[in-house]
Amino acid sequence: MASDEFVTVKTFLPTLPLPANSERAEITTNRLLIRALQPGDLAAFRVLRTQQDVMKWTKAGCIDETIEITKSKLDPFLPPNDLITANCAICLKDTGEFIGIGGCHLYPASHGWPEVGYMLRKEQWGQGFGTEFLSAWLRFWSELPRSKREVQVQKEMVDREGSVDEHLIAITEVSNVPSQRVLLKSGFERFREFDEVDDGKTVNLVAFRYLPSKTEWRKGL
Ligand SMILES: CC(C)(COP(=O)(O)OP(=O)(O)OC[C@H]1O[C@@H](n2cnc3c(N)ncnc32)[C@H](O)[C@@H]1OP(=O)(O)O)[C@@H](O)C(=O)NCCC(=O)NCCS
Repeated sequence: MASDEFVTVKTFLPTLPLPANSERAEITTNRLLIRALQPGDLAAFRVLRTQQDVMKWTKAGCIDETIEITKSKLDPFLPPNDLITANCAICLKDTGEFIGIGGCHLYPASHGWPEVGYMLRKEQWGQGFGTEFLSAWLRFWSELPRSKREVQVQKEMVDREGSVDEHLIAITEVSNVPSQRVLLKSGFERFREFDEVDDGKTVNLVAFRYLPSKTEWRKGL
């Protein structure tokens, strides 16, 4: 069970406010265009959020019944909320087609650290897009300017108190093997399993962590 006990740690974290959507450069990879979300993405986002095979892995667990619900899930990543989140549209580079969403959707999450997540339309699974997205997005996240901060984090979400390496957390269900493969291939480390009771149902979760200060490209900065 997740604990309510928090500790104070000193660390470096991406400086708030984060860059506004209007200032974020597009990221391109071999096959993807990763860009800021826009109000006009609502229809494509709705297609994603009405795929039950995708939504079963989200906290909601089911598809959005109405477009208003989908809009309420897009608004946290549009101005003015873009200054505290960094969730992006994942598009095919060749056509610009929107195929998913991913990035930091909570900063801080309830455990105290920033949290990353992603979801892709089902027909695009199994082609390496999840890993291609996350690896590129991690570089963007790791290269953001940092500020020294003192933050409260859940006791189990850190090895010790005092000065610690900055963490970026991802949480998956124990049974979500594809997502865990994406995390491991992108440089995350599995570090803790816990249960959460949601609507009377116990969900087995696993937390992964990524330490931006340990990545090669930041070491060189
Ligand atoms: C998680 C998700 C983004 C992965 O996207 P993707 O583009 O298919 O990911 P990749 O192709 O980069 O990697 C998938 C890995 O899972 C593996 N995999 C896929 N299905 C699997 C299964 N049923 N059992 C075991 N491994 C599986 C693939 O083989 C691949 O690993 P490998 O390269 O070591 O062989 C996508 O499945 C998705 O959107 N899922 C629904 C939303 C979700 O779960 N989000 C994450 C919440 S924590």
